[in-house]
Amino acid sequence: PGLDGRPARGLRFTPVAPNTADRVTVPQGYDQNVVIRWGEPILRGAPEFDQNRQTARAQAMQFGYNNDFLALLDLPGEPHRQVLVANHEYTDENLMFAGYDPARPTREQVEIAWAAHGLSVVVVDEDRRVGRLTPVRRHPLNRRITATTPFEVTGPAAGSPLLRTSADPTGTRVLGTLNNCAGGTTPWGTVLSAEENFNQYFANAGAVTDPQAKARLARYGMSGAASTRKWEQFDQRFDVTREPNESHRFGYIVELDPYDPESTPRKRTALGRFKHEAAQPRLTADGRPVIYMGDDERFDYLYKFVSDRRVRRGDSRAAREHNMTLLDHGTLYVARFTGDSPAAEIDGTGTLPDDGEFDGWGEWIPLASGDRSLVPGMTADEVYVFTRLAADRVGATKMDRPEDVEPSPRTGRVYVALTNNTDRGKAGKAGADEANPRNANKHGHVLELTERGDDPAATRFTWTLLLVCGDPEDPATYFAGFPKDQVSPISCPDNVTFDPHGNLWISTDGNALGSHDGLFGVAVQGRERGRVRQFLTVPVGAETCGPVVQDRRVLVAVQHPGEVDGASVENPASAWPDGPGGLVRPAVVAVWRRDGRDIGV
Ligand code: FEO
Ligand code: CA
Ligand code: CA
Ligand code: CA
Repeated sequence: PGLDGRPARGLRFTPVAPNTADRVTVPQGYDQNVVIRWGEPILRGAPEFDQNRQTARAQAMQFGYNNDFLALLDLPGEPHRQVLVANHEYTDENLMFAGYDPARPTREQVEIAWAAHGLSVVVVDEDRRVGRLTPVRRHPLNRRITATTPFEVTGPAAGSPLLRTSADPTGTRVLGTLNNCAGGTTPWGTVLSAEENFNQYFANAGAVTDPQAKARLARYGMSGAASTRKWEQFDQRFDVTREPNESHRFGYIVELDPYDPESTPRKRTALGRFKHEAAQPRLTADGRPVIYMGDDERFDYLYKFVSDRRVRRGDSRAAREHNMTLLDHGTLYVARFTGDSPAAEIDGTGTLPDDGEFDGWGEWIPLASGDRSLVPGMTADEVYVFTRLAADRVGATKMDRPEDVEPSPRTGRVYVALTNNTDRGKAGKAGADEANPRNANKHGHVLELTERGDDPAATRFTWTLLLVCGDPEDPATYFAGFPKDQVSPISCPDNVTFDPHGNLWISTDGNALGSHDGLFGVAVQGRERGRVRQFLTVPVGAETCGPVVQDRRVLVAVQHPGEVDGASVENPASAWPDGPGGLVRPAVVAVWRRDGRDIGV
């Protein structure tokens, strides 16, 4: 299949070789620009970035830190412009502040970090000839959302006693969003953003004595004393001994209407609470959104939410208000995977079973529907707020860190990035199964799921592994059967998206092959299925995030460049993007073809 054939349309570029260059490397004949960096002013009144005179007030009007998910949306009425939405997952204080003392952060540093978290909405201008993008400062749609922006909690668990705090006795109003990793865009014009490792912001769970509360905190990764950033010293809501329910108000999918800068963003409890990586919808034949979601933790689960309500078309106020209720009414499911090969053939080495594929069938197990719990021994509120505990009880399949999940807009098949799990098969931990076939899984894999009858609301599916990642020379890798001498090495798949030709693009985080992270394209249909081709690499210490692939440009978020053990402002590991002397700065990069033609054709 495909031997020496032309790559699939959209993937016809000279692959970038694995490397450790401190820059963004793109294919021959392609060019790039830094679209926007951490600290660039986007709101009216924002000052230019000054690394030696940072203030929280300025940061709240500037592009945030550690850009992850990116959405690039149409801007009706303004030709040659688009709306860029970016997540700002977390802060690297030692790379932000000269002389930073992690034991004694100042109030100003903490408040800068609050303002550097969240999301940015910024309108960008398109170059008429090539794919270059430049930000439009002070556009009326530009917006910052931070760790202190008011959010409304919606859906079945809104107002639950589990969500009430001394500052918010209604359990419906939360200040801020934290650790927004990846996300998704909806057909009704909103952006979804996933609160992931929120546990790291909450201190003193180790001092909690109530056994039930302690167990719940522990299941979400909270068991220690002081937090890394010491925010609890400046706001007691980050101390679980003082405000026991505040951490229950993070770990959701949030929905933002980027076209209404006055709108209050929502936290959607119906989609459950866990370390949400991302959320990407697909519509049923009758117009109900189904949202696919991963919980990024070793041995955690894959979920989906099926709405009861249909999308209303058009841009009327009534339609928009209706569509903002779609994610509050429906059923939350978790996945169980069963392999079709004898268990004895899954030996944990990654050797293919006798039928030649890691594959099988599976089911979606319902956890709760509206106000009704479907998990014995748990109330509906408990299912939505302690979703991991609900999924534990129903026998969901423990996966190798489910990251981004994306349904193909062409085929409806769903692609799940399982980034790695070096604990698979360790003493006391689950061993390999057909859906997670390697013990000590360093490089991860990509699973393809096909809903029964091509109905995203189905409760049964079949699945197969598209990729078992790593060095193609390693026999424990698999590229959908494509000849392995013609594929790029790939390790630790994280974010996934589709290009206009139906190819899957995969960005990586944590490449365990000794070279830098990057972005890859792979055909998922036809003779070229499985032929992974590397499109770019990122600088020292960075992961590749937020890929958006349009006809004329590829957009990536370069997250945490220079994040290397022991690095600091005084001792930087990277000089990206502006060369030696300035701070290393997370930034968004656009890539295009110099001859102005479409990407990869
Ligand atoms: Fe924030 Fe799972 O990556
Ligand atoms: Ca099989
Ligand atoms: Ca991620
Ligand atoms: Ca990641």
